[in-house]
Amino acid sequence: MLTTSVIFLPCLTKIPWLATSLGAPWLLRRATQAFALSHSLHINAKLSFRRTLCSLPIGIPSSSGSEVCQMVQALKGGVDGLVQGVEEKSSIKEVKHILEMARRASSRREVLHTNFLTPPVLKESMQVLEKLADVKAIAQGGYPEAERCRISVGHPEELTSDPDIIAALSITGNFGFQPCSHGDFLGAILGTGIAREKLGDIILQGEQGAQIVIVPELVDFLMSSLDKVGNVSVSCTRIPLISLDYEPPRTRSFKTIEASLRVDAVASAGFKISRSKLVDLISKGDVRVNWTPIAKNGTTLKTGDIVSVSGKGRLKVGEVNSTKKGKFAVELIRYL
Ligand SMILES: *[C@@H]1O[C@H](CO)[C@@H](O)[C@H](O)[C@H]1NC(C)=O
Ligand SMILES: *[C@@H]1O[C@H](CO)[C@@H](O)[C@H](O)[C@H]1NC(C)=O
Ligand SMILES: *[C@@H]1O[C@H](CO)[C@@H](O)[C@H](O)[C@H]1NC(C)=O
Repeated sequence: MLTTSVIFLPCLTKIPWLATSLGAPWLLRRATQAFALSHSLHINAKLSFRRTLCSLPIGIPSSSGSEVCQMVQALKGGVDGLVQGVEEKSSIKEVKHILEMARRASSRREVLHTNFLTPPVLKESMQVLEKLADVKAIAQGGYPEAERCRISVGHPEELTSDPDIIAALSITGNFGFQPCSHGDFLGAILGTGIAREKLGDIILQGEQGAQIVIVPELVDFLMSSLDKVGNVSVSCTRIPLISLDYEPPRTRSFKTIEASLRVDAVASAGFKISRSKLVDLISKGDVRVNWTPIAKNGTTLKTGDIVSVSGKGRLKVGEVNSTKKGKFAVELIRYL
């Protein structure tokens, strides 16, 4: 489990003072830029610690002499872990919010858009939205297999084509000697002050760098703010969505015959680990179904479910047929 400690620091004066006192001209520049931006941005100043995320909510400069800055220190897990831990708890609330938004959009004959959603929220929301009458929903993440997508909702007569709410950037630099991970790119981008939900997928491009998906209104900001990833100098250029270069994950699929569709049975066959080991992993919270940790061995699976086991990877439940003997023939797709 993720442990976080939150420290509130009363900053004596405004952000630029803080930036100067930290001896970081880049922070000063970014803090100033951020003042000019809408409140869709909050300042996430990534300090020199890779594992430390400091977020400084920016107030109106004249409101008071002392800003309050909140330093969230993720003791475990880094940026990805921090974001994920927070998201799990709020995902039900998020889905409800999206449904309300859909109803409102449909009745007012408007088209409304969400920010980028995480895969579990996206999946859950689309399933529920499909059942609503008078609501059409379109999910877009820049390319067909995108994990993080924005949903547009509206009345079927208003929402007739894909809204133009997704942009793509190519981040290039010399990564030949200094390979950077997904987390490095994510950290560098959030470090400019962009909120996580304004950012879609990050597609690594090996030595060339990465391509990212983002909301169009922050393209110019990111192009002028992002100059380094790790310690590699980078430059950003806007690219058409069609240029996103995504290689589908390598998979291997196979069939197994199981007496039940319980997660312990199916996943032990899928990951080739003993059932008792799997039960053990479930009790430690290391097994997730559709990105949510499961608490019971008895959880049953259905076609389309994604099972992930920490350290082992992911698999998807494919077609399920019943056999004459009352068992289940299950197709499993393992991501390599
Ligand atoms: C980046 O930092 C690493 C050590 O942290 C160093 O080995 C490498 O040479 C540096 N690369 C560049 C391009 O400065
Ligand atoms: C899971 O199964 C094991 C062994 O079959 C059992 O001891 C344990 O209580 C079960 N746990 C839950 C949460 O059902
Ligand atoms: C399920 O049945 C269909 C039709 O008979 C067959 O094509 C498919 O391979 C079966 N799938 C599994 C997982 O057994």
